Amino acid sequence: MPILDTSLHSLKRIYRGKVRDSYELDDDKLLIIATDRISAFDVILDDPIPYKGMVLQALTDFWFEKLKGIVPNHLTGIDPTTVVAEDEVDQVKGRSVVAMKLKPIPIECVGRGYIAGGGWKDYQATGKVCGVELPAGLKQAQKLPQPIFTPAAKKEVGTHDENISFEQAVQLVGEDVARQIRDYSIELYTRAAEYALTKGIIIADTKFEFGLDKDGVVRLMDEVLTPDSSRFWPADQYNEGIAPRKENPGAREKTSQKYREALRRLAGRDVA
Ligand SMILES: Nc1ncnc2c1ncn2[C@@H]1O[C@H](COP(=O)(O)OP(=O)(O)OP(=O)(O)O)[C@@H](O)[C@H]1O
Ligand SMILES: [Mg+2]
Repeated sequence: MPILDTSLHSLKRIYRGKVRDSYELDDDKLLIIATDRISAFDVILDDPIPYKGMVLQALTDFWFEKLKGIVPNHLTGIDPTTVVAEDEVDQVKGRSVVAMKLKPIPIECVGRGYIAGGGWKDYQATGKVCGVELPAGLKQAQKLPQPIFTPAAKKEVGTHDENISFEQAVQLVGEDVARQIRDYSIELYTRAAEYALTKGIIIADTKFEFGLDKDGVVRLMDEVLTPDSSRFWPADQYNEGIAPRKENPGAREKTSQKYREALRRLAGRDVA
């Protein structure tokens, strides 16, 4: 059954994001549930996308496992079905995680190997993305000479995140943390993109989120390398100079199929 909204009575909901609902377990743990909500231009649409939350969760689980050697993460290993009441298991099964409650680092950490989307617009206007000088004459959707880190400052709900330079990231979070999230983002993106290509998918770019634990350790959190946080392109349809079309998010069944196809190809599994 698709889930647009969750309502656990046994725990306190502390956040409703565009896609996930977060409940507090205690001072240092959260239960984060991926619903089937979909947003377009930061507006949540009325119709749930079947299986979407489960796909997001399964892909995130897959990538956490695959990339765990690169960076510490927020996983606790606690089974979400064990922390809710019996009549709430249906709302969490296969679509949630019990995570360490971290202090979010207020920067969206984008790793990019191709020039598309907002990055393409910035490049056309200035020849750079987030202060990174790029070669002249790149075509839309062209592969970059090497993956780059293009951070954005997280803004309040309802407003768009703003691209910033690495120097501005240093101003916001300090040199040590800025360097760590940059280096992790590039390494995570590079490893994931290499793997995805063997499965016929180009990961043009992807957004990571990091947080600090009680000891000040930087950990990877949130969702990882999903269709919501990334641009996935079918490699056999890739063309320099052409931006692959995005599916109209209102096309419910088609969108659902696309999410499941990404999971099947990348992780070799399905949700139903
Ligand atoms: N381990 C964690 N500790 C604290 N916050 C987390 C953790 N993992 C994820 N989050 C936060 O939980 C929320 C997940 O919900 P969702 O992705 O739906 O939000 P969103 O609409 O993208 O909102 P936001 O603009 O806050 O990112 C995000 O705000 C994300 O930063
Ligand atoms: Mg999010």
